[in-house]
Amino acid sequence: MAKRRTVHACQACGAQHPRWHGRCPDCGQWDSLVEETYEAPKAATGTGRGAAGLAARLPTEQEEKPRRLGEIDVDAVPRIPSGEGELDRVLGGGFVPGSVILLGGDPGVGKSTLALQVAGRLAAGGESVLYVSGEESAEQIRLRAERLPGLGSAMQVLTTTRVEALADPWKTLAPRFVVVDSIQTLATEAIESAAGSVAQVRESAAQLAATAKKQGSVLLLIGHVTKDGTLAGPRVLEHLVDVVLTFEGDRAHAFRLLRAVKNRFGSTQEIGVLNMAGHGLEAVENPSELFLEERSTRAPGSCVIPLLEGTRPMLVELQALVAPAPYGTPRRTTLGLEDARVALLLAVLDRRTPIDILSQDVYAKAAGGVRVAEPAADLAIALAIASSRLDRALPADTAAVGEIGLGGELRRVARLDVRRAEAARLGFRRLLVPAVCARELEERASGSAGARKGGRRGGSEQCELVPFEELAQAIAWLEENGVAEPPRRGARRAVD
Ligand code: TYD
Ligand code: MG
Repeated sequence: MAKRRTVHACQACGAQHPRWHGRCPDCGQWDSLVEETYEAPKAATGTGRGAAGLAARLPTEQEEKPRRLGEIDVDAVPRIPSGEGELDRVLGGGFVPGSVILLGGDPGVGKSTLALQVAGRLAAGGESVLYVSGEESAEQIRLRAERLPGLGSAMQVLTTTRVEALADPWKTLAPRFVVVDSIQTLATEAIESAAGSVAQVRESAAQLAATAKKQGSVLLLIGHVTKDGTLAGPRVLEHLVDVVLTFEGDRAHAFRLLRAVKNRFGSTQEIGVLNMAGHGLEAVENPSELFLEERSTRAPGSCVIPLLEGTRPMLVELQALVAPAPYGTPRRTTLGLEDARVALLLAVLDRRTPIDILSQDVYAKAAGGVRVAEPAADLAIALAIASSRLDRALPADTAAVGEIGLGGELRRVARLDVRRAEAARLGFRRLLVPAVCARELEERASGSAGARKGGRRGGSEQCELVPFEELAQAIAWLEENGVAEPPRRGARRAVD
């Protein structure tokens, strides 16, 4: 008879303890231990307790023996394009057969839609696809699929919450692509605790991953996120899979960002930008145009920054509003920007430039629901705040990029050439930059122009660089070149 074992598993870190503790001795989290009962498997395996349960029912595809590194053929396993360009970009060129991908995100962000869309397109392209859902009924999936164009009807759909129910279809269909929506709703018989608990999630995912590896299928697991935005379930889940993708976006906005947090087969720098439309998710080729669409060029308190996400430049508008503080302590509120960064920039503005800001309420945000974490955004944030304080709008054709040090000095940013080209493409004629970057770019340009005998003026040179050593100089430039707010034609007059 199988032996029963009781452990206390931490819901935060997944550590197991023989006795209950008020605080997890491993990660220090309070009140996170939950009792779980295991049925010990009959034969122990190398992949963890019973991890081979599902996989063991399938034939072994490859002999496990060592090979010389040089003899391993990489081209033997070509990547499978997902049919969704933005996803391929984030994955580094498509799915790798036998890989396991975890897709996390807030409820309603569009995880199921993305998975269904990719599964449907692969199936329509002739791949064998198995879509497993523990969350939605087969009818709901069909209804959703009807909203999405080009899915075809070849995909196999299985609605279950039992891991073991996948064994047969996995064996008979030999799918190239398997979607599990979501890993928290599935449970294996190997463990007694409820679906969604740490032990269940870990064990179910381990079994599914072992099977995918053995069969050479691509496995896409959808995962829930907790309130603080991390993937629900144990951290081991992230170690177990090859790629961790997060899908984020403001529900109030239609665009969604897809990022790789971990990627064994590619970079984690690239992001994908998608738009949730009435007929599913569509790729956004030009995110800058999307983000700048609603920009008001005449209001003070706005500055555009060419951000860099991976290798991809994106123009984003940063906005600030400065108002006299009616109460003792001024308020600072930010959206999409880091509080600490804005506080630091306010202090630098106050101490290193003539702008008096510490007694003012300051509200700052990145428009469009974008989250800006790059230090290169410093100059644009500071200029947006200064612009609102001075009531002078930056010229509409001007963008700014640069990191600011505590001494008020402007510091180097990476890939100014790419940022400048993107700004030029969207019609910006001036880019305020740290002097050190401008010098470097000029040196490089003159070097390569010499090599090309005279050179040729590229499109990005239509965007003039305006270099500054210090923030105070940039503020002086704003005072000189900024546009005072035109007298408002009041709404009240229109009513009269
Ligand atoms: P869903 O994929 O169910 O999110 P998740 O699986 O991450 O919880 O996303 C559903 C949301 O997207 C829902 O609010 C409706 C919306 N939606 C569209 O706007 N257009 C569409 O074509 C589809 C299928 C969904
Ligand atoms: Mg869903």
